[in-house]
Amino acid sequence: MDTPFRSGLEGVIVAETEISHVDGANGRLIYRGGYHIEEVADRSYEELVHLLLYGRLPDWGELAATTAGLMKQRELNDAARAALAGLSTSADPMDALRTVLSAQGAQRGVAQPTAAEAIAVTAAAATAVAACHRHRQGLPLPEARMDLGHVANFLYQLHGREPDQAQVRWLETYFVVTADHALSPSTFTAQIVGSTGSDLWSAIVAAVGALKGPAHGGATVEATRMLERVGGPEHAESFVLDVLSHRGRLMGFGHREYRRYDPRARILADVCQAANPGYHAVARAVEDVALRELARRHPDRPNLTNVDYFAGGVLSGVGIPPDFFTCMFAAARTVGWAAHVVEYVARGERIVSPASRWIGPDARAAWRHQ
Ligand code: ACO
Repeated sequence: MDTPFRSGLEGVIVAETEISHVDGANGRLIYRGGYHIEEVADRSYEELVHLLLYGRLPDWGELAATTAGLMKQRELNDAARAALAGLSTSADPMDALRTVLSAQGAQRGVAQPTAAEAIAVTAAAATAVAACHRHRQGLPLPEARMDLGHVANFLYQLHGREPDQAQVRWLETYFVVTADHALSPSTFTAQIVGSTGSDLWSAIVAAVGALKGPAHGGATVEATRMLERVGGPEHAESFVLDVLSHRGRLMGFGHREYRRYDPRARILADVCQAANPGYHAVARAVEDVALRELARRHPDRPNLTNVDYFAGGVLSGVGIPPDFFTCMFAAARTVGWAAHVVEYVARGERIVSPASRWIGPDARAAWRHQ
């Protein structure tokens, strides 16, 4: 019997994982070890990295080791710096990030997917984003600081000044809640590359390429641009009605899996209120009308607020320009990509090699008669 074709692999289970679980019907995101996202949202990114890679929140000694591992490997090597220097300052930020990580990995040599290598690529990803941002401004990358945590050092290298503690906390929450999300398209991409026996850096570079697509990583910037167009909370009603009357999509609403409010959006809404009150005021006004109208138009299919809606307010609140939003997503998600690849390879799973259905013409006559 023919195996049914599922466009976009919707509903097809292609892996088993204990890294994270999306319970869309109940609006829950569970991280490794059974932690609800709300339980760990206030943890440091270092703790989260340890949890996703080793399966438990670290004790004091383990946290010190993971923190040191991230810290020691945050410098970009010569190959990565040279690759970035060779790019135009107008290069797309995601193209630049992909190039820098590729060069960094090439100079390290072939690295099998292990938790230790995952820490190396996670450390480099944040520095690479900061470096791409500095390069675009024509500014040198400040040397990494060894007295700062992962997120604080990132902000220091990005802006070239002492990071503000409140901004560090806001961005750290963003990093923690976007660190993993089951088998997203970019995570699956990384897993496919890892399944072939390739190295971890190749898997991460491929994932960056997948995330770049506007249907995947680009929704945060789209939601931000949409809210900029509203022109203030008093225009929320007319804006939403206008978009929907033209069969447009309200960015930051709807999700393939969540049928309840995305738990990450709830957390980031609070952060956004503190980090960017102006954005938050417009976003809340639009959200009230959007949820009402989407529920009225699709009573059987809830399209609620998703993670991207408030994320742009958090990121702009800490000084990230919109065209770097997808890079930020990549920097936070690198550990999740790596954790899935390490898990898949450690289990000795098979190479991912699906089938396709032939819809071309019949075999050519000349060959048929041979
Ligand atoms: N605005 C308006 N209508 C919507 C929205 C929205 N944001 N989301 C869904 N709908 C409507 C669709 O028009 C469709 O209606 P129809 O059946 O009358 O044509 C119905 O709800 C179902 O929509 P689908 O596109 O079939 O739902 P799907 O699960 O395939 O898509 C998606 C989910 C792509 C996220 C969609 O909700 C969307 O386009 N949202 C806006 C973009 C966005 O915010 N993306 C980020 C998602 S989160 C993430 O990926 C990290």
